[in-house]
Amino acid sequence: MVNRRMFLLGSAAAAAAGQSTSQAVGTGMIGVGNRGSYLLRGVMSQPNAKVLALCDIKPDRLDKAATAAAKDNPATYADWRKIIDRKDVDAVFIATPPDLHSEMAVAALRAGKHVYCEKPIGITPAQVRAVMEAAKKSNKVFVPGQQLRSMKEYIEAVRKIRDGIIGDVIMVKAQRHATADLPHDGTSGDWYFDVNRSGGYLIEQSVHNLDLCNWAIGAHPTRASGIGGILLHKNDPPGRTIFDCGAINYEYPGGVMMSFTQNVFHPRGMPNGNQYIYVYGTKGAVDLMGTPTLYSLTGDAKPVVVGEKAQPDDPHAHIAAFYNAVVNGGKLPADITIGATAALTAILGHQAMTSGQAVDWKSLGVEV
Ligand SMILES: NC(=O)c1ccc[n+]([C@@H]2O[C@H](COP(=O)([O-])OP(=O)(O)OC[C@H]3O[C@@H](n4cnc5c(N)ncnc54)[C@H](O)[C@@H]3O)[C@@H](O)[C@H]2O)c1
Repeated sequence: MVNRRMFLLGSAAAAAAGQSTSQAVGTGMIGVGNRGSYLLRGVMSQPNAKVLALCDIKPDRLDKAATAAAKDNPATYADWRKIIDRKDVDAVFIATPPDLHSEMAVAALRAGKHVYCEKPIGITPAQVRAVMEAAKKSNKVFVPGQQLRSMKEYIEAVRKIRDGIIGDVIMVKAQRHATADLPHDGTSGDWYFDVNRSGGYLIEQSVHNLDLCNWAIGAHPTRASGIGGILLHKNDPPGRTIFDCGAINYEYPGGVMMSFTQNVFHPRGMPNGNQYIYVYGTKGAVDLMGTPTLYSLTGDAKPVVVGEKAQPDDPHAHIAAFYNAVVNGGKLPADITIGATAALTAILGHQAMTSGQAVDWKSLGVEV
């Protein structure tokens, strides 16, 4: 097993000798379904990665992944603990259903692995706390799958918001609407429509949008209230327990307010986009999603692009940043605090929607 210190020492020595600093990080992938197979492609494209082990409980998915990773000739397992037990596996990717992330991430961190864990890192406060504690105790790299944090246009736009282009941020209006529900034919996973497995739409999907909102505001919410329900897809698919729509008001420090809605029935082509985040400040507003654009409250209010996409755009920038942190000690675009805060923001909104009561951040009982 090669640990981070050995990598750094090896890299420094190699650099001093004028040699290449590339060294393979033994990598294991747990869960190679839709997302996991996409992550696998990203891992295979990294010069510093070698895929040693793959795990999935579905043999067909495991076979497909093994074929995709044939160049590295990985071992395949149905039991994820076999990957954690391997001494030559330095880094583990977790892309299983959300209710399994916490147990797997904690076990991997305790075994001394670097971890890339898909979002949400947990679907209950206790799960998030467990990952948080394990990551903080470990000296390994932990990256949550909040990949918007690696997108240049958002990094630039949020930096400009922090620098004051819209003055003080006072309000955010955001939505994650979809033109359709995920497929009801079983292809979206046997877990997605079960709230105890996915956490529901807000926790499983909107966690990306809520993370961007927190990032733009520069804080996490202190309180939430909301309503949610199943208004269109009643008992569809049969046994469904996740909402198909909801509306949440979040309060942030300093009186900043955010209003967030979600649904899965926003007709294609209807104006006002499926997803947006409008960040309002004392001097103007930024339309953050897509191409971040500034609209000033003064002057001629001509829209100005404030975040440019990377050219060429690297779809695996988040994975590249993970390996750069493991091998070179590079800065993380998203760490455990960001992953935990994003998950807890979604959990707070979910608790508000399901209880119909205002819920305080403090009642979640997790320090971030
Ligand atoms: N970051 C993103 O943009 C993004 C996008 C899509 C999905 N995701 C996340 O990725 C995760 C997986 O989503 P998906 O769409 O790939 O779901 P999926 O159902 O297609 O894949 C999950 C895989 O995990 C496997 N699995 C289940 N239990 C297992 C176990 N005990 N051990 C090993 N494997 C097991 C399943 O067989 C399946 O192949 C979810 O947390 C989801 O939120 C993230």
